Amino acid sequence: MGFPKTRMRRLRNNDTMQRLVRETVLTVDNFVYPLFLCPGSNVKKPIESMKGCFHFSADMVAGEAAEIASLGIPAVLLFGVPEKKDDKGTRAWAEDGVVQQAIKVIRNTVPELLVITDVCLCAYTSSGHCGVIKNNKVDNDSTLELLAKMALSHAQAGADMVAPSDMMDGRVGFIRECLDKNDFSDTAIMAYSAKYASAFYGPFRDVADSAPAFGNRKSYQMDIANSRQAMREIELDIEEGADIVMVKPALCYLDVIREARQRFDVPIAAYNVSGEYMMINAACDAGYLDKKAGMLETLYSIKRAGADIIITYFAKEAAKVLKK
Ligand code: PBG
Repeated sequence: MGFPKTRMRRLRNNDTMQRLVRETVLTVDNFVYPLFLCPGSNVKKPIESMKGCFHFSADMVAGEAAEIASLGIPAVLLFGVPEKKDDKGTRAWAEDGVVQQAIKVIRNTVPELLVITDVCLCAYTSSGHCGVIKNNKVDNDSTLELLAKMALSHAQAGADMVAPSDMMDGRVGFIRECLDKNDFSDTAIMAYSAKYASAFYGPFRDVADSAPAFGNRKSYQMDIANSRQAMREIELDIEEGADIVMVKPALCYLDVIREARQRFDVPIAAYNVSGEYMMINAACDAGYLDKKAGMLETLYSIKRAGADIIITYFAKEAAKVLKK
């Protein structure tokens, strides 16, 4: 039955009608807001390459965490920049490390805010790689132990969830076992399962001072051309014990998010990364794009593709817009 009996515009007649038939709901409950911690005290320094983002010292994080929680955002994702780097990235699991301190501050001041921590060595190693170097290569198996130490130290400080982003094989199982052995069976794991070797992490590398000193990350992060392989990565992480799986970046990989949604029943997170965020900001600054509309269209696309959770630097701005 086609036109003129069928008229698609009937259900678009007014806002209320559109509200009734809307298929995708975007809410603040979907958002995770990334926060960057740095050494020192009394620091809140704007990050030049990422408009609207700051480096916080642990003592300054309480105010920010309170604001995030008051906007209704359920969780933060913590990244740390250590005071010094070395071969193994030992500051990554230091009890007095910047992330460990910040976790405690948030736990004590804003207990309702979920604390998720990024688990990766790249900001902590002198090579800037996500693992330890052996024979000029990033060595998988000797890295696992260090990642587990890092995850455990976050759990001990009070993190609700750890998020390994290094893309070493077997790390989810290794971390799960280590947490369980140490009585942290309730600490959840959100695995960066399908993390691509993407150009869109550009602005972030400045933030975390984590650009590799030699080579690139293509021997561990995924080839941008692959999607079946992403399904295998996700499947393995679920088998190893991941509670939530992630696709990263989000926008160039909406097909991967959709495919994962259709195949798997665990919650799916998508990381709307720094380059995606700054691309939109730059277009707005140049006058090519309306900020509010461009931001919402981006976030809706990620949700519509099938993501349950969206990790985004837009979280605070979007929360304010969605509240109205
Ligand atoms: C660390 C890590 C990166 C991001 C999150 N965790 C950088 C990278 O892999 O190079 C990127 C986040 C962003 O670009 O917003 N491994």
